[in-house]
Amino acid sequence: MKLLFYTAASNGAAWVDALSRAMPETSIGTWPDDTTTAADYALVWKPPPGLFAKLDSVKAIFNLGAGVDGLESMPRSLENVPLIRLVDAGMAEQMVEYVAYAVLRRYREFDVYAQSQREGAWQPRRRLDKSGFRVGILGIGSLGVVVAAALAAFGFPVDGWSRSRKQIPDVRSFAGTAELKEFLGRCHVLVCMLPLTAETRGILNRATLSQLSKGAYVVNVSRGALLVDEDLLALIDSGALSGATLDVFQEEPLPPSHAFWHHPCITVTPHVSAVTRIEESVAQIAAKIRRLEAGLPVSGVVDRARSY
Ligand code: NAP
Ligand code: GLV
Repeated sequence: MKLLFYTAASNGAAWVDALSRAMPETSIGTWPDDTTTAADYALVWKPPPGLFAKLDSVKAIFNLGAGVDGLESMPRSLENVPLIRLVDAGMAEQMVEYVAYAVLRRYREFDVYAQSQREGAWQPRRRLDKSGFRVGILGIGSLGVVVAAALAAFGFPVDGWSRSRKQIPDVRSFAGTAELKEFLGRCHVLVCMLPLTAETRGILNRATLSQLSKGAYVVNVSRGALLVDEDLLALIDSGALSGATLDVFQEEPLPPSHAFWHHPCITVTPHVSAVTRIEESVAQIAAKIRRLEAGLPVSGVVDRARSY
């Protein structure tokens, strides 16, 4: 069996090493250096358009991450080739750490106390009512559902919004555009965990963010293009929103001149909320290839009509 591997990231050698150990029976060619024999499976992250011509005879394409928006330019001729994304593979645990930190930091007002400390002021504040501090998660899929459970375990009231209705203990499910307004109106913290698709691009805009509770806080860990940057800045500056923790941006790295860098109410991190862990991901992909070879179904197959 032959695998064709490509990543736009700088850790290609570590991937190839882990794949060789997990699947010693396979030969691994890296694009563009080795394209001599046709591959059975392709493993890619943000492939350049030139690579797509090599993929029409593979049995499946594995995306080395959860979000498949890096494959947006894939030609229609490949739409019948199964595209398989990572499902969790160690990312849910990281998302829990990141989002729980952001929510607890806002709820326990650590930024206000940091300011008091800078001023040398001993200023206890009245504890916020947790039962009224509702966290809403936009996108309650394989990562969102684990984050929701972790926040509920802290005692936060948690709502989730998705395309389809969910049954999740301690989480109220809102589904579809018809229920988005009601969902937003209840949120004191909005956590965005949606994939980037034609339907979700720009979904965090002036109209939607204005529906959040007064002084709400925004956490975006999905993709930068879901957020209209100027709308978020305007709403924070007007006091309608209290701030944001942002891990993803329309342009990455975030340009040095961008207003997010120096805004006192915005925390910026460099797309690290949940990084792909090579060992777990290789184990998941190897197990799926074995299932596919045995004619068995696998999870994480992207619905090409929905783009996630
Ligand atoms: P997933 O399992 O596919 O979950 C996506 C969720 O979004 C589902 O609940 C889905 O609803 C919902 N959704 C999608 N389109 C919708 C729409 N138009 N209206 C309402 N709900 C919609 O994806 P995941 O594995 O949890 O990953 C989510 C995203 O996180 C990825 O796509 C990626 O962009 C991002 N991510 C970021 C990082 C990082 O480091 N920053 C790391 C990993 C992932 P249904 O359940 O009803 O289908
Ligand atoms: C990372 O952003 C991913 O989609 O896995």
